[in-house]
Parts: sequence; C-alpha cells; structure tokens
Amino acid sequence: MPFRSLLFVPGDSERKQAKAESVGADVLILDLEDSVDISRLPIARDMVRDYLTAHTARRAQLWVRINPLDSGLALDDLAAVVRGKPDGILLPKVAGGADIALLDNYLSALEARDGVAAGTIGILPVATETAQALFGLGTYFAKSERLRGLTWGAEDLAAAVGAISNRLDDGEYDFTYKLARSLCLLGAHAAGVAPIDTIWGNFRDAEGLMRDAKLARRAGFTGKIAIHPDQVGPINEAFTPTDAELARAQRIVQAFADSPGVGTLQLDGEMLDRPHLKQAQRTLASAPAAA
Ligand code: COA
Ligand code: MG
Repeated sequence: MPFRSLLFVPGDSERKQAKAESVGADVLILDLEDSVDISRLPIARDMVRDYLTAHTARRAQLWVRINPLDSGLALDDLAAVVRGKPDGILLPKVAGGADIALLDNYLSALEARDGVAAGTIGILPVATETAQALFGLGTYFAKSERLRGLTWGAEDLAAAVGAISNRLDDGEYDFTYKLARSLCLLGAHAAGVAPIDTIWGNFRDAEGLMRDAKLARRAGFTGKIAIHPDQVGPINEAFTPTDAELARAQRIVQAFADSPGVGTLQLDGEMLDRPHLKQAQRTLASAPAAA
C-alpha cells in the first residue's frame, strides 16, 4: 500500500470527512487530538468510529490520531475506535520506543476484545514533539511489529521549549527543528520504517509545498503529511519517482545484472557501487506499479 500522502481530517467534521474520500490521499488521519476541541471529543470519538465502520472497503487507509498516552484520554480514544478496525494509530507526543511497546499492548488487548485480527493495527508516532523525544529517536528499533514509520513536528516542539518562533528571519527552520527533522529521518531508517515529513502549514502556498516535499524526498523521506485537500496531489507527485528516475534506476540495476561478480562499474562516466545499486532498487520498489 502506498504511504506518500497522509491527510489530517478533523474528527468532528462531517463535511471534511465526506470531502476527504475523493481527494486521492493514500492515508486519511481522522484526528481526535489538536484539531478537536475537548468539549467535542466524545462526539468526535463516535463520529470517527462510525466513519471507520461505514468504510470497510477502503480506497485510502484510515488511521486515527489519538490523544497522548499521558493525557488521560488515550485509552478512551482507543476503546472507542479499535472496533472500527482502523489501519493504524498516529500517536502524538511520544518520548521513545517504550511508548510504542505500551501502545502495542493496549492495541493487542482491544483487538482481542473487539474481535479484530491480532496485530493488524499499525502505529505511527509523532516523534519530536517534546524535548525528551529528541533524545529517544534512536530507540524505536524492534519495539513493535506494528511500527510503520516515524514522523516529526515543529509546532509542539517550539511550544515545549518556550520558543517565540521555530523559524529564522528568512523563513527557514531554526537549527533545533532541522535537528528534529534529521533525527526523525535517521531514527526511522535505523528502525527500518518509513520516514514521513511534517506538514507545510500555508496551504495556499502550492509552490512552497512542492519545493518542501521535493527536498524531503531528496533527503530520504518517503511521504508527507497534508492538512488540506489541495496538498494531496502535489505530495503524491513529489513522492512518486519520475519516468526519467525509473529509467535510470532500471539501467543501473541492469548494468550490475550484466556484470555478475563485479562490485563497482561505470555508467555514463560515473562510478557506481553497492549504495547506488541499493538506491536504484529502492527507486524501482517505490514505483506506483511496484507499490
Ligand atoms: N480534510 C478534508 N476536507 C477538508 C480539509 C481536510 N483537512 N480541509 C478543508 N477541507 C474541505 C473544506 O471543508 C472545504 O470543503 P467544502 O467546500 O465542501 O466545505 C474545502 O476542503 C476547501 O476548504 P477551504 O475553504 O480552503 O479551507 P477551510 O477554511 O474550510 O479549512 C483548515 C482550513 C486549515 C481549517 C482545514 O484545512 C483543516 O481543518 N485542516 C486540518 C487541520 C488539522 O487536522 N490539524 C491537525 C493536524 S496539524
Ligand atoms: Mg500538535
């Protein structure tokens, strides 16, 4: 299943839930956390469960963002939605791999209670939203078979450290947030799961989004979170290899296949060795037909 575009949909908005079905996102994240006022949380839980139950045949994967494990709300969120068989849970404000092991246990218990096949609900943590979380980014390896990726965020981290802004005067992220982004990328690859880039908040700025998404893919991210339907198409495009990239990857794989037992060779005057082969294979694997 492709995992390029993940669109946030507020859990208490019928209108947005209806709209979300037709925008072509790989994943919809039905939100019970920051986009829902606490007074509406009980209604949102029911709406999200009903939406899941009404969509058993799914074009997009349906994930749910619950409230943080230490909020006192997470277990009730899970108890409400697991019976709807969500494809996964987006867990905000995690500290590290131990939180994933705990959520894995909760999910196993609720899957058993609700007759959901064991181990089928995935987990995607937002892994940079507290100061402590930055020191936990190397701890996700082998904590749970459910782990599908890691993503990061700059807004809650800025609030956590009392920053007046997470940006510099020229609009670039300050170093702390670039560090969070890089550690998320490395932590995800270290755990063998997908690194998912954070939101582009200005949803009217299509050009900025495209630039940001392409930079993320170039850096090694494999998908990106969207907050508005208009962002889904550009994100899908940015994270799909172009025909030229596929053709070149094919040639690299072929060149190695044509030279058995050879570790390094040249193509168009450029030295190629194992990392190039690995990257070419990765590119081919991420082609829409392969996915
Ligand atoms: N999912 C599904 N549909 C959405 C949507 C979303 N995230 N954001 C907007 N839409 C719909 C709107 O309802 C509207 O549809 P309509 O014409 O049928 O009413 C259409 O897309 C165009 O929306 P637009 O008028 O441009 O924006 P808006 O003012 O309605 O909403 C936001 C702007 C930012 C409030 C909205 O995009 C949103 O709620 N985003 C998600 C926020 C979120 O989940 N944040 C938490 C994670 S950071
Ligand atoms: Mg948040």
